[in-house]
This record gives sequence, C-alpha cells and structure tokens, in this order.
Amino acid sequence: MKIDVLPVFGKQTDNQLQDTTVVVVDVLRATTSIICALNGGAIKVVPTVDAGDAVALASRLGSRECVLGGERGGIKISGFDIGNSPKEYLSRTVKNKTVIISTTNGTGALHSVKSAEKILIGAMINRTAVAKAASCEGHDILIVCAGTDGQPSADDLCTAGAIIDAVRGYATIRPGDLSDMALICEALYNGWKEERFDISKTFHYSRLTGLGFDEDVKFCFTPDTTETVPQYRDGVIIK
Ligand code: MLT
Repeated sequence: MKIDVLPVFGKQTDNQLQDTTVVVVDVLRATTSIICALNGGAIKVVPTVDAGDAVALASRLGSRECVLGGERGGIKISGFDIGNSPKEYLSRTVKNKTVIISTTNGTGALHSVKSAEKILIGAMINRTAVAKAASCEGHDILIVCAGTDGQPSADDLCTAGAIIDAVRGYATIRPGDLSDMALICEALYNGWKEERFDISKTFHYSRLTGLGFDEDVKFCFTPDTTETVPQYRDGVIIK
C-alpha cells in the first residue's frame, strides 16, 4: 500500500485520485469541526468554497433546517450563525440540522478532490479511526492537506504523519511505500509526539492562539478522542 501526502491541495492530478483513498486534513480547524458537527448530531455537512454560496443555500433551506458556519482568517464570517470552533459544532445548535460550512482553506481542499471515489475526513482527533478506515479500503492512500493560503501548514503535515503512523497498525508498509513527503510528515509527527518539535510556534497555530483560540488548538491536537470517520460524497459529508 503506497501512501503519499499532498502538502497543499490543488496540485493533484486526476491520475492521483484514481483507485486511491483520499483523506482530507485541515486539522486547524475545518476537518476537526466537521467531525464534531456529525458527533453533535448534525444530519449532514455541506462544504462550500464561497461564503455567498453558503448564504444562498442557507436561505433556500431556511433557519429551521440548517446552521451556517464558517470563518475567514480564523474569524467568524459576519452574519453566520457560528464560526469554526470545533466546540460550536458539538453544541445543541447543530443537532438534527444540515450544517453549511465555508472556510478559508479547508472547504477548498474538499472541493479539489471531489472527483475521487472515496474521500474520508481526517484530523488528529480521529487519526487512528481514519487510518483504519483508509487501510480497510485496500487502495493506495493520498492525504490531501488544506495548508494555509496556498502554503504548507505544519499542523496539517504533523496530522498527516499521525495518520500514517496509525496506518502501520492496520497495513503492511514496505520500504518504498511511503513517498518522501509521507516520510517527512511521519518524522514531524514523531518530533511532535516526543516534544522535540514545538507546533505552537508555527504560523496558523500561533495565529489562532493570538486570536484567543487556545482551547481550540488544544482540542484539535488531542489524538484519538473519536472514532467518527465522515465521508464526503456527492457534495455532502455524512458519518
Ligand atoms: C481554514 O479552512 O483555513 C481553517 O479551518 C481556518 C480556521 O482555523 O478556522
């Protein structure tokens, strides 16, 4: 089983998406929030790239049916019901509703791979569960990271490494199966786990703590707190 990591979405070829299980990662915070929305009882999550599209869909569905969530630059979009804090998505606000979410990078990453047959939502909080689900598919795995504004983001790379580390528990990985980027991610994860790599110094992590989201980043970086592995199919994310 070959495993590759795309550090920033958008550069994959159609070939890379064929016969491949894709895992989308935006650990801070979109994919973590999406997992939380489904754990919080949302019926489904609809990711949109454009905030205007999210608003249009929400007004078609009506406020009884849906919750509108999203951020730009980490801050809640004006007029939206909630921002992008995972805990907002665990609350009663989302129960039995369709969550429409638009974020700076994460929802773009999801859209960029929508032609893939199997797309799983990955984060640190479900790293072992998503690794198990991806391994069980029996195909090669491509982890697509959201990054930040077109640049690789260490938080996503570290999470990709955490998922790869967990895949080792479910599949045989032979020499040459991991791409160089996959090996880099795994080394980064091991550095983080052994406290040699300080993730709090990295750009997006420190931006979020600067905005007062200390609780969020701690929550997002606590491994294996859930077994939920959402799937993205036909424009909709479900459990
Ligand atoms: C994004 O999509 O760029 C992120 O999820 C930003 C955030 O931390 O809210």
